[in-house]
Amino acid sequence: LPKIRRPVRCLSAAVAARNEGFAKVMQSDLLAFENFLGKDGVQKDDISNHITDWTGQFKGHGSVVLYPKSTEEVSAILAYCSRNKIAVVPQGGNTGLVGGSIPVHDEVVLSMNKINRQFSFDDTMGILNCDAGFILEELDNKLAKLGYMMPFDLGAKGSCQIGGNVATCAGGIRLIRYGSLHAHLLGLTVVLPDEQGSVLHLGSSIRKDNTSLHTPHLFLGSEGQLGVITSVTMTAVPKPRSVQSAMLGVESFKKCCEVLKLAKSSLSEVLSSFEFLDADIMECLKSNLDLHPVLSKSTPFSILVETSGSNEDHDMEKMSAFLDECLSKNLILDGVLAGSSADAANMWKLRESAPLAVTRDGYVYKHDVSLPLENYYELTNVMKARCGDLAKRVVTYGHLGDGNTHLNITAGKRCEELEELMYPFLYEWVVAHGGSISAEHGIGQLKLPYSNLGKGSEERLLTKKLKNIFDPNGILNPYKMI
Ligand code: FAD
Ligand code: MLT
Ligand code: ZN
Repeated sequence: LPKIRRPVRCLSAAVAARNEGFAKVMQSDLLAFENFLGKDGVQKDDISNHITDWTGQFKGHGSVVLYPKSTEEVSAILAYCSRNKIAVVPQGGNTGLVGGSIPVHDEVVLSMNKINRQFSFDDTMGILNCDAGFILEELDNKLAKLGYMMPFDLGAKGSCQIGGNVATCAGGIRLIRYGSLHAHLLGLTVVLPDEQGSVLHLGSSIRKDNTSLHTPHLFLGSEGQLGVITSVTMTAVPKPRSVQSAMLGVESFKKCCEVLKLAKSSLSEVLSSFEFLDADIMECLKSNLDLHPVLSKSTPFSILVETSGSNEDHDMEKMSAFLDECLSKNLILDGVLAGSSADAANMWKLRESAPLAVTRDGYVYKHDVSLPLENYYELTNVMKARCGDLAKRVVTYGHLGDGNTHLNITAGKRCEELEELMYPFLYEWVVAHGGSISAEHGIGQLKLPYSNLGKGSEERLLTKKLKNIFDPNGILNPYKMI
């Protein structure tokens, strides 16, 4: 394994030294930006929301936020910045969890907040075309009126943007049913950070097109390294007419896996979520957010199962038969089927509040890894033993149906001794067990020291070559991912 340095966060020394090849933003640059965008497109004061991440653990030192309103304005900015070697950070809803969307030093923030006008939808083919700055929940609400929904959903839906979702290849709670964004992306408009601010229209707006390399997919999970996404074409899925949710209490992790296997076979085509919470995150939800379990018995593990279909009687029959089988096979200790949308909302509130609950402990070390199921919860037990009393809590929730665990280790405040115990041990353990150090949140600043883990040198070299082609002056989102 390559030698690794510990992750260095904002509270200690800077992540990487400033690249002195980048120019500092001068008054003449601000005037040029105002010339491209108008005075209201350039913000210099009150920008703390744009230079601090959602966790509050990453804070950059940028001094200006730009708000282009169109692809052309993005192009003008990137051409200018490339020619003048000014580093730029593309920013969507700033809900990313790896410090990727904020400046590290004095990079200019390119906010996509105002690129949110164009929206069109083919309600026969289910094809959406929209500007990249639309908030995920707004898109979902618009599609609901047309009988459709977005094929993915996340707790950050009220703030994250579709451009940011593509740039991070967001996963979320419906991936088990609809697959990853790779299955849905058809086309993108992208502006390159080259000296022309080249505008590329990639892919197409039809479902099937094998006439070229699938170039839009290069930008899925590209974390703002290759270009700025200004519009997205993708498929949406029919909005289910019937949604059933159930919370199950389970005695052992082995039985959780058996419940998953049974859910796949007996709920099969209607299974739309299979989410996991352990007793420690349940306790954290109770003590930090006053959110109480919906199950009457306290159990070591809870599973939130959801089905989505088109016929309530049929789906309810399937869900009831599934729950009966879980009980008769002694796989669950307790189970509640939501009797109303309010009941279901209470179940989902527990799962979706987990990211917030852990932050209330003071400081949280977040992890987002995928592992073979036989090692999924072993990681939690290994880390509990390793961290001992230095950790306030070691809690786990996640997308069990996708093999994606969110192990969160909390402390009252940042603790270097705890970090020494955790890193690089945790990431090496994950890779040694055949997992990925990032299932969905990406590399950003947080995992940069480990980004080579599990990737061969050819793949790393190819990635660097691609970065050089798209971003010849290296101005886009430096000090991160690539
Ligand atoms: P930002 O945070 O603004 O940016 C993320 C990265 O994308 C940055 O590197 C940025 O430079 C780049 N970027 C943003 N917009 C563009 C663009 N238009 N062009 C080029 N690059 C761009 N993630 C999951 O995968 N699954 C989850 O279940 C999930 N749940 C979450 C729950 C909560 C409560 C929170 C706070 C976060 C969660 N996330 C989850 C993480 C985050 O919401 C996603 O990564 C989301 O896709 C980021 O979108 P954003 O618009 O906020 O992007
Ligand atoms: C989730 O699934 O809740 C998110 O990915 C956020 C997190 O890991 O906290
Ligand atoms: Zn997640």
